[in-house]
Amino acid sequence: MPVLKNIGILYTCAAEGGQADIHPVKYAALVWERDKILWTGPEANLPEPYHKLESLDAGGKMVIPGLVECHTHLAFGGWRADEFELRSLGRPYLEIAKSGGGILSSVRATREASPEELLNKCLGHLQEMKALGITTVECKSGYGLNRDDELKVLQVYRELDRMQPLDIVSTFLGAHMVPPEYAGRREAYVAFLVEEMLPLIADAQLARFCDIFIEETAFTIDEAYTILANAIDYGFMLKLHADQLSPGGGAELAAQLGAVSADHLEYISEAGIQAMKNADVVAVSLPLASFYLRQPAIPARKLIEAGVSVAVSTDFNPGSAPSFHLPAAMTMACTLQHMSPAEVLKGATFYAAKALRMQDDIGSLEPGKRADFALIDAPSVNHWLYHLRPNACTASWKDGIQIYG
Ligand code: NIG
Ligand code: FE
Repeated sequence: MPVLKNIGILYTCAAEGGQADIHPVKYAALVWERDKILWTGPEANLPEPYHKLESLDAGGKMVIPGLVECHTHLAFGGWRADEFELRSLGRPYLEIAKSGGGILSSVRATREASPEELLNKCLGHLQEMKALGITTVECKSGYGLNRDDELKVLQVYRELDRMQPLDIVSTFLGAHMVPPEYAGRREAYVAFLVEEMLPLIADAQLARFCDIFIEETAFTIDEAYTILANAIDYGFMLKLHADQLSPGGGAELAAQLGAVSADHLEYISEAGIQAMKNADVVAVSLPLASFYLRQPAIPARKLIEAGVSVAVSTDFNPGSAPSFHLPAAMTMACTLQHMSPAEVLKGATFYAAKALRMQDDIGSLEPGKRADFALIDAPSVNHWLYHLRPNACTASWKDGIQIYG
């Protein structure tokens, strides 16, 4: 049973209060036993029974809950740097997608990749994410878009969960786009997802969430309703890529279906904001995607003022957000989305955990929760997100075990 002492400042990020309440504790200590937190508070109040524990020295640094990365498309073949060049020179993202590039070019490369190639590539990413203080990662399929390649990716995620310390939470995104073999037969693809894939994946317990991309080049609201309503029947929790490139009623649908989160939301409507508030759907903001695609930012202030929980994530994928640097995304959430550093920290910890329905287990530093935490070399959250460094995280623990530093 160890105790971490000499913590300059610790943010518990517990639920109480609103988005900006991250509950700082100065000159703190943190006690844990095996994988669970036992006590946090000012070191001066450390209860007597903990005085003789094996103690570690935080060196006056800052402690935060392990970062929860709640939206990635981690496994994909190849990259799309050439499209990045085209987009830099002004070619629109959707135009590239319509001419066979975009998501479909990653589908081709992912189908060609062996499970070992995907696994090793993901392991490299996870290794670097671990060093940033991330302890849980949500991972979507969606670049296979046929039976075998969707299963291949979800099995890679299962294997990754077993073989490295970060928790992997899998999401089935078979409804990312209609693949070329179904061109002109979209209903047949929707039927394939509903009748064949959902039962298969539910049966093999390969994904906790079902997600869909609602957009002109992807799926309509009606198709989304069909797929997601069936997903509920198979026991999936729901996520939606909604209102990203144009307004589409995705936020309203997320609320209607009781989704856990609706993600992107650059073009969310006023009615969508109210609906999400009433149904307590988490808004997952993805500032890197807005930045890379030069989209307007999500109206985070309006969402927060309405009482919606706003999570912050990278959306790591080979097209719209080719970076898994969550602290960089967090800084961008401050500048582009007008969120305070405290609001952003809650968004990448407690509310990100809520976006995975894991807030009872992770996302805050409280007795009974998992001992997932990171040591950050900064005097405060304001200073950390203001002075963006390649990496300010110097050590991290997952389930009470030091995994980095
Ligand atoms: O979340 N919006 C849809 N899907 C991804 C982009 C995927 C891609 O460009 O490969 C996203 O932004
Ligand atoms: Fe995404």
